[in-house]
Amino acid sequence: MTRRSPGDYLRLGCNYIYIHFIRPIVDYVKMSRLRRGIQVVGEDFRANHGVIIKGRGGLRVGRHVHLNDYVWINAGGGVTIGDNVQIGCYVIIHSANHRYRDRDVLITDQGHDVKPVTIGSDVWIGGGAVILPGVTLGDGVVVGAGSVVTKDVEPYTVVVGVPNRVMGVRS
Ligand SMILES: CC(C)(COP(=O)(O)OP(=O)(O)OC[C@H]1O[C@@H](n2cnc3c(N)ncnc32)[C@H](O)[C@@H]1OP(=O)(O)O)[C@@H](O)C(=O)NCCC(=O)NCCS
Repeated sequence: MTRRSPGDYLRLGCNYIYIHFIRPIVDYVKMSRLRRGIQVVGEDFRANHGVIIKGRGGLRVGRHVHLNDYVWINAGGGVTIGDNVQIGCYVIIHSANHRYRDRDVLITDQGHDVKPVTIGSDVWIGGGAVILPGVTLGDGVVVGAGSVVTKDVEPYTVVVGVPNRVMGVRS
């Protein structure tokens, strides 16, 4: 395994990654011979058991980012994650929707609308939360367990529920 120093730019690639064990992602990517798609910027990216990352839009993660068990990310529309971010177990991040409006065409034939998701730095997303396409979580945001985040969240705000509502602001 190659150790990278902070600030190094590591372009890892995949359309699909499934991490079976807790192991450095660079190690896994070497094994899977993937070509492009994930950029890990800086040190200490940890992805726990069962994490799934897929989609051609690309995932870019900063420093000290931890994906807990069974996090599922579809990066079809592009997902960017800042520094010092904790993503709880079973969190789902979507960055694309199926088009569905035309009732005369099968949904499966209507294609996708891709919408990037941006997650700032110093963010904590509680277990089981769902982040929908196009959402931006500002720096310092906390998302409660099980929340469904449908809209952008202002920096240092705590949101909970379905759909998300503001529970408070970090002081
Ligand atoms: C969001 C969170 C951090 C807030 O914790 P807290 O500051 O102690 O807040 P409280 O427990 O005092 O709750 C404040 C209010 O928000 C509500 N609330 C808290 N978390 C909620 C959630 N996830 N969904 C819906 N409502 C929630 C409470 O019911 C309470 O409502 P009330 O004022 O009407 O009684 C916490 O509830 C949470 O969801 N933690 C995530 C845990 C987790 O996923 N850990 C990692 C797993 S890998």
